[in-house]
Amino acid sequence: MIIGILNQKGGVGKTTLSVNIAASLARTGARVLLLDIDPQGSALDWAAAREGAPLFPVVGLPRATIHKEIDQLGKDYDHIVIDGPPRVTDLARSAIMASDVILIPVQPSPYDIWAAEEVVKLIDEARIYKESLKAAFAVNRKIANTAIGRDVREALAAYPVPSLVASITQRVVFAEAAAQGLAVHEADPEGLAAREIEAMTAELLEFAA
Ligand SMILES: Nc1ncnc2c1ncn2[C@@H]1O[C@H](COP(=O)(O)OP(=O)(O)OP(=O)(O)O)[C@@H](O)[C@H]1O
Ligand SMILES: [Mg+2]
Repeated sequence: MIIGILNQKGGVGKTTLSVNIAASLARTGARVLLLDIDPQGSALDWAAAREGAPLFPVVGLPRATIHKEIDQLGKDYDHIVIDGPPRVTDLARSAIMASDVILIPVQPSPYDIWAAEEVVKLIDEARIYKESLKAAFAVNRKIANTAIGRDVREALAAYPVPSLVASITQRVVFAEAAAQGLAVHEADPEGLAAREIEAMTAELLEFAA
C-alpha cells in the first residue's frame, strides 16, 4: 500500500507520523520504504541521526513526478510511506496521485483546521482521476482532557474527509526519539506513544483495505 502523509501546513507532524508509522509497519515484517519528498529532507535527517541498523530505507525524492515513478520505486516493497512537504503544491499533488490512501495530520488548533482546506481541495481534484483514493485526518499533538482536543473532531467533520478514531497525544518522547533517529517504540517500547502509533497504523490499514 502507498500511504501519503500530507498537509501543506507546516509542522503538523507529517514527518513524525511518517517515520513512526513506517517503523510500525516494518515491525510486522513488511518490506517498507519511506519516501521523503520534502526538499527540507527531514526524514533523511532522521535516518542520518540513527546509529544502529536502519529499520527501513529512506529515499529522498523531492520531485513532482513521483506518481509516474511509484510503480518502479515500489516493486520490492509491501508498503511505501510518503513524507510530504509543507507548502509545495505540485509535490503534494504528485504524492496524492501516487498514493492509495492519504493521511492528513492536524493539530487541535483552529489554524490547522482552517488550513486543512487546501489539502482537502487537492484530494477532491485528484478524485476526478482517481475515484478510489481514500483520505483521513489524523489528530496529532492532542493534549489530554482539553476542550480543544475534543472539539477538533467536530470541527473537522465539516470537511468531506473522515477522521481516524486513533489520535496521537503530545508527548516529548516523539522529539527525543527523533533526535536519535529512533521510532518511539524503540525509545520507549512500553510507552503510550508507541501504543498510539500501533493503534493508528492498525486503523489506517483497516481503513485503506
Ligand atoms: N505528538 C507529538 N508530540 C510531541 N511533539 C511532536 C508531536 N508530533 C510532532 N511533534 C514535534 O513537532 C515538530 C514538527 O513535527 P514534524 O516535523 O513531524 O512536522 P511536519 O509536518 O513534518 O513539519 P514540516 O511541515 O516542516 O515538514 C517536531 O519538532 C516534532 O518533534
Ligand atoms: Mg516534515
